[in-house]
Amino acid sequence: MSAETLFGKDLPLELEIGSGKARFLLAEAERNPGRLYLGLEIVEEYVLLARKKAERLGLANVRFESVDGKAFVLGRLPEGSLSGLHVFFPDPWPKVRHARRRLFDAAFAAGAARALAPGSPFRAASDDPPTWALIERTLDAEPGFVRDVAAPDWSSGTDYEAKWERAGKPIGKAIWRRR
Ligand SMILES: C[S@@+](CC[C@H](N)C(=O)[O-])C[C@H]1O[C@@H](n2cnc3c(N)ncnc32)[C@H](O)[C@@H]1O
Repeated sequence: MSAETLFGKDLPLELEIGSGKARFLLAEAERNPGRLYLGLEIVEEYVLLARKKAERLGLANVRFESVDGKAFVLGRLPEGSLSGLHVFFPDPWPKVRHARRRLFDAAFAAGAARALAPGSPFRAASDDPPTWALIERTLDAEPGFVRDVAAPDWSSGTDYEAKWERAGKPIGKAIWRRR
């Protein structure tokens, strides 16, 4: 699915998976009117809430859909069609029997690299050490990505980041770029 199909406009498109209460995407959309933003979130209630907030802010460059982000990245995006991909505080699914539900695996990393245009960022964060280790291992192992070691300090500004920062929990954060 291209930016043109989604928005009727051919502008750079960024995707967030698990947009939750949409703080990150709404702020980005407001700051960058020349870019398009798609938030995928499986909890319908959050999608409806995010759409209301976008409407209240008068933002025509952001959309929220109740769609599984992993399936979307693997099957619905043309090669090189994304200008950014963002995943903040993905659900850890710690039980071994739930491991298949985790977002990050080699297939997802390869699909993400395929979908991103050269030089575009994949931004990720997690407060959960095993999840952060999985994210680092998976994205470092994908030949289509290189970690941006020169990236300045940044914040996703999401509810989870604020919550874990208040609690004094260490947060893993990094940016990888499509080669
Ligand atoms: C721990 S919350 C973090 C929410 C937000 N990113 C933040 O930082 O505040 C994880 C979110 O990802 C959503 N989610 C989990 N798996 C998903 C998937 N496959 N596709 C889209 N959203 C997903 C959950 O419903 C939940 O809202």
